[in-house]
Amino acid sequence: MISSENRGKGYPAYPDRIPPGWRVVVSDSWPVNNPGLGRIAPTDLTTWRFRTTGEVEDPLELTYEEFQALPHVSRVVDHHCIDGWSYLGQRWTGVDFSVVKDLTGVRESAKYAMVEGEGISGQRFPVDQDLLFADGQDGERLSPAAGFPLRVVAPGAFGYKNRKWVDRVRFCSERETDGLERAFVEAGVEELYTAAIASADPWTVDDSARKSFLRRVFASDVEQLRRVKATELLSTHAGPGTRPKADEEEWDLCSLEMPGESPDRAQFVVNGHIVQVLMGSGLVFAVEPICPHMGTDLSHAKADPAARTIACPLHKAVFDLATGACLRGSMGSDGAAFPPLRTYRIRIRDDRVLLLRDQAWGPLW
Ligand code: FES
Repeated sequence: MISSENRGKGYPAYPDRIPPGWRVVVSDSWPVNNPGLGRIAPTDLTTWRFRTTGEVEDPLELTYEEFQALPHVSRVVDHHCIDGWSYLGQRWTGVDFSVVKDLTGVRESAKYAMVEGEGISGQRFPVDQDLLFADGQDGERLSPAAGFPLRVVAPGAFGYKNRKWVDRVRFCSERETDGLERAFVEAGVEELYTAAIASADPWTVDDSARKSFLRRVFASDVEQLRRVKATELLSTHAGPGTRPKADEEEWDLCSLEMPGESPDRAQFVVNGHIVQVLMGSGLVFAVEPICPHMGTDLSHAKADPAARTIACPLHKAVFDLATGACLRGSMGSDGAAFPPLRTYRIRIRDDRVLLLRDQAWGPLW
């Protein structure tokens, strides 16, 4: 059991190895669940340093070579993402947190460790948390998407605690708000988050609460992502719907004979929103080509009009083209945790695809 005292130190040991309701990822390679806007920037190893600061006797400042010269261990760890998927038995190589603490001389006053990196928010851990600072994965050097040059692996904690692109640890005497908690406040779900982490079994004690929580977080994120993605896409995808007349009830988008890729698709900018028309197997759909999980551009995503589905290339979520419902979440997880893909109402008349003005456009700007 996790009490409020030691919360964040891990999930209970599930007899079946995965939390109830989770799906095991079947994949030959490590599933990368970076946000669409995540940082995967090249790191200059000549200037990179691993530092310790705060409540320590001897602050460390190690080059990559010096860090690699520290004693390394290998550990096999199961990864459980709160999206509802697990990847089992990943082998990590790195430096145990105890080595870092011994080297830097952590003071008695240190109660928490904030694990931080350039350009990303920190993750807070109790100072006695079981942690590995990993620079290797599966016998190879860490890849950029997995957190090169250094990531933290927290056995027994949920995946989001495993912060990537780490370059420092700040030891603190007081509990500080970490980046994720700030994000929850911004998403307006602070109460739900606080209640969840204070429970004996965060995220899994009430699976429907977890899903509703995630839907709210993603839905809030996606509004921000829409702004960014729509601005990007609007600059490259301008179609005949860009200048609708204010008094029109419907906008004439395109002909049913639309030439294009298979399935036929074309993209328009209407009312400030991006509308993609997809056709195939005698069916026509109109959707916003932005994944509501982490904002991936779905302009060229694999779609199957006959099956009414479109699949996000990043984390493989699958959506119903007609209703927008998420049929399968990231990495095969339960789609009920995801907000729907935005779909638009259309009408076919005289072999033309018409987009109705009267529909839920939702906030954009
Ligand atoms: S961005 Fe994650 S499933 Fe689409």
